[in-house]
Amino acid sequence: MAVASPVFAPSLFRGRTVFVAGGTSGINLGIARRFSSLGAALFVVSRSEDKVATAVAELRHSGPADGAVADVRDFDAVQSAIGKCIERFGAIDIAVSGAAGNFVAPAAELSPNGFRTVVDIDLIGSFHVCRAVYPYLRKPGASIINISATQAFTPLPGQVHVCAAKAGIDAMTKVLAVEWGPEGVRVNAIAPGPVDGTEGMARLTPTSEHRERLTQTIPLRRYATLDEIADTAVFLCSSAGANFNGEVLVCDGGQSVLGGGGFAAAWASAAPG
Ligand code: HXC
Ligand code: NAP
Repeated sequence: MAVASPVFAPSLFRGRTVFVAGGTSGINLGIARRFSSLGAALFVVSRSEDKVATAVAELRHSGPADGAVADVRDFDAVQSAIGKCIERFGAIDIAVSGAAGNFVAPAAELSPNGFRTVVDIDLIGSFHVCRAVYPYLRKPGASIINISATQAFTPLPGQVHVCAAKAGIDAMTKVLAVEWGPEGVRVNAIAPGPVDGTEGMARLTPTSEHRERLTQTIPLRRYATLDEIADTAVFLCSSAGANFNGEVLVCDGGQSVLGGGGFAAAWASAAPG
C-alpha cells in the first residue's frame, strides 16, 4: 500500500506521469507506490497479466494508475505500452526502468542462453525502455531512472550474467546523460545493495545463514527498505536532484565503501548453488 512520505510534500508530483517498467513487484512497485502517494499518475508494465492487474488495483487506492503487459526484451511491446500510457495520461514525465532477472549460477555451469537471458532483460530491456520513452521526455524536468545493482562493480561469484548486465546499465546511463542532457532529459541510476522483502534477496540469500553473513558485510548491519530505495528515486527526480545527471547513486548502507572484498568473501562462503 502507498504510505504518505514523511519527507516529501504530498503534492510534489501532482500532474506528472511516471512510467515504471517492471513496476508490478518489489523495489519497482515500491517506487511506483511512493510516486503515487506524492500525486503522480502511474503506469506499470511487466510480463504477468495478474501482476499488472493487482499492482494497478492497489495503486488506484492512492491515485490514477494503469498498466500494460509487455516483455522488455520486445522493443515493439515496450513501444506499444508507452503508447498506451500516452493515450491514457497524455504524457510521460519520469520513466523508471527496473525489470530484471536473477539466479545464482557459477559461470562454468551457466549456459550461453542463461547469460543472454539476463543481459536481454536487464541491459537490452533497459535500452528499449530508454529509447522508446525518449521522444516523450524531451522537455525540461524530465527524468529517467535505471535500476542497477552494486554487482555492477562488485564481482560476485555466481553472478557473472548480472554483474555484466548491470555494469552495462551504468555505462549506458552515463552515455544517455551526455547525449540527452542538453535537451533537459536527466538520466540517472540507482544501485541498491541488499533490499529487504524482495524476490532478488529471496533468490540470493534464501536462508537466515546467508542473510546473516551478508548483513555482517554492511556497515549499517541491515538490508535497505523498499521505502529507502523509493525515496532515492523521488529525490533524484525532484528539484532537489535537479543537477544530478549520469549519476549512479549507490544505496547500500555503506557495504561498497568497504570495497567488494567483504561482500564477495561472505558471499562465496554462503552463496546458494
Ligand atoms: C542456471 C538458469 C536458471 C538457474 C534459468 N536458467 N534459471 N540457469 N540456473 N537457476 C537458464 C535456463 O536454463 C535457460 O537456458 C535460460 O536461463 C532462460 O531460462 P527461461 O526459464 O527460459 O527464462 P525466462 O522464462 O525468460 O525467465 C527469466 C529468468 C526468470 C531470469 C530465468 O528467473 C525470471 O523471470 N526472473 C524474474 C524475476 C527475478 O529474477 N527477480 C529478481 C530480480 S533481482 P537454457 O540454456 O537451458 O535454454 C536482481 C538483482 C538482485 O536482478 C541484486 C541483489 C543485491
Ligand atoms: P522483482 O520483484 O522480481 O521485480 C522484477 C520486476 O520486473 C517484476 O515486476 C517482474 O514482473 C518484472 N519483469 C521481470 N522480467 C521482465 C521482463 N522480461 N519484461 C518485463 N518485466 C519483467 O525483483 P526485485 O528484487 O524487487 O528487483 C527489482 C529491481 O531491483 C531489479 O532491477 C533488480 O536487479 C534491482 N535490485 C534488486 C536488489 C534486491 O535486493 N532485491 C538489489 C539491487 C538491485 P513479471 O514477472 O510480471 O514480468
